[in-house]
Amino acid sequence: MADTVPHLRTEALAALAEAADDAALATWHVRYLGRKEGRLTGVLRGLAQLPVEERRAVGAAANALKAELEAAYEEQREALRRMAVRQALEGGSVDVTLPPRPRARGRLHPVTQTLRQMLDAFRSMGFSIVEGPEVELDYYNFEALRIPADHPARDMWDTLWVDDGTPRPRSLLMRTHTSPAQIRVMEQHQPPIRIVVPGRAYRHEATDTTHEWMMTQVEVLAVDEGLTLAHLKGTLLGVMQRLFGSERRIRLQCSYFPFVEPGAEVAMDCFNCAGTGCATCHQSGWIEMGGAGMVHPEILERMGIDPARYTGFAAGMGLERLAMQLYGVPDMRFFYQNDLRMLQQF
Ligand code: DAH
Repeated sequence: MADTVPHLRTEALAALAEAADDAALATWHVRYLGRKEGRLTGVLRGLAQLPVEERRAVGAAANALKAELEAAYEEQREALRRMAVRQALEGGSVDVTLPPRPRARGRLHPVTQTLRQMLDAFRSMGFSIVEGPEVELDYYNFEALRIPADHPARDMWDTLWVDDGTPRPRSLLMRTHTSPAQIRVMEQHQPPIRIVVPGRAYRHEATDTTHEWMMTQVEVLAVDEGLTLAHLKGTLLGVMQRLFGSERRIRLQCSYFPFVEPGAEVAMDCFNCAGTGCATCHQSGWIEMGGAGMVHPEILERMGIDPARYTGFAAGMGLERLAMQLYGVPDMRFFYQNDLRMLQQF
C-alpha cells in the first residue's frame, strides 16, 4: 500500500498533463480526486484497514498527495484558461484596437426639453409648480371658468367627453386646457399665489401641421395685492427672454376668454428674424404663444378672494408650437409619432 501512493502520484500527474480541455480536466478530477470513486479517495478510505504502523506513514503521504494534486489541478485549469485567451487573441477573433460599440442613449423629448427650460425660468421667478388631473370635471374645465353649458364660448374648445355610463350631458371630460387647475388652486389657497401648471390638454380636432388632439400647456396664475397687466407682461417677457435671448419682445393683443378681463393673445417677436418676417414665423414676424389676461373678479369672488383687495393675472401657453419653432419642426404631428429618426435629432 505504501508503494501505491508514489505510483498514483506519477500516474495522476502524467494524466493531468494530458488533460487539454475543460471536459478532460473534469474527468480527471472525478477519476483521481472524486468524492465517490476517486482513486486517492479510495486510498484514504483504505487506511483503516492498514496495520497501525503503516497507517501513519501512508496517511501522511496520501494527504500530502491530495494537496499536491488539488494544486496541480488548479494550475492546469488556469493554464488552459490563459491558453484559450492567447489563442483567441492570436486567432484575431478579438481585435482589441477596435473602438467600443456605441451605447444606446436615451434622450429627452423636444417638448420635454422646452417644458423644462420654461419651468426653470418660472421657478427662478418664484413660481411653484403644481399639477391637475387630465380627466376633469365639467365644473372645473368650464363652469367655474365662467363658461356655462349653453355659452357659445364652449365652441372654442372641441371637447372629448368621457363616457362614465351616466346619461348625457356628461360631466367628465378630457381637460381641454390647463386652466381648470387655476380653480383647483384658488379653492385651496389664499393669496399670495404664484403657480405654474404644466400638463397635457386634449381637443377633438381634425389634425394638421399645426393641430393635434393632444397638446402640452403651461398655465400661469398669480394672485396678490396690486398685480396689474404690467406684471403679467413683465413675467412673460422675463421667461421668454430667458429662453430665447434678452433682445426678445412680447406683444399682447386684445382677445376674449370668459375667465379673464381684459383678455389677450400673447405673441413674441420671432427669434429667427427679430420681427422682419421669415419662414419660422410664416412671414408675420411674430410667434403665437397663447392666451392671457387679468383673472375675472367674479372668479376671485367665488373663490372667496376679495376682488377689491386682490387682483390676479393668468396665462396659458402651448408648448408644441414653441418647440416647433425652436427646433424647426415643420409638422406638429411629428412630435408624437414616436419615429426614432425624428426623435434622435434632439
Ligand atoms: N386656456 C386657454 C386655452 O387653452 C388659454 C388661456 C387664455 C389661458 C387666457 C389663460 C388665460 O390662463 O388667462 O385656449
